[in-house]
Amino acid sequence: MKQIVIILASALMLMSCGGGEQKTDSTETTPATESKTENVKEAPEAVTLTIEGNDEMKYNLDMMTVKAGQEVTLVLKHVGKMAEEAMGHNWVLLKKGADMQEFAMEAIGAKDNGYIPVGTNKVITNTDMIGGGEETKITFTAPKKGTYNFLCTFPGHFATMQGKFIVE
Ligand code: CO
Repeated sequence: MKQIVIILASALMLMSCGGGEQKTDSTETTPATESKTENVKEAPEAVTLTIEGNDEMKYNLDMMTVKAGQEVTLVLKHVGKMAEEAMGHNWVLLKKGADMQEFAMEAIGAKDNGYIPVGTNKVITNTDMIGGGEETKITFTAPKKGTYNFLCTFPGHFATMQGKFIVE
């Protein structure tokens, strides 16, 4: 009789242990959810950057900073009055290792393609070419950490219209 009681008692203990394990399972679910939330927080928020070009063949910024993997909306505003044919501006982000001067020279021959060499493998992304009073924008994902060059590829502009795109 005593043995049966002991067995029953152990069975009850096992059951309660089983219940305890279930509780442990459910508490493990909570941290998993929390870490997912943390991951979302760690992902950089989307950002909008605005850069202006003017009739003096200049951008208003020579450096722009974003985070790796960040969704970037780049707004290019031509705050001048001159026509695109005379004072066109675009914003072209070059891949690392692309020679800016060499690329700018290639671009001169690509007027029909908005001064972007057809089939080039040197560009990460670029806006359209615009004239005075116009505005254009593009959205892209920031590349990996590093320093990249941006420029305007309208003939002769890159000398005064260029800058560093820094990805942190
Ligand atoms: Co320009």
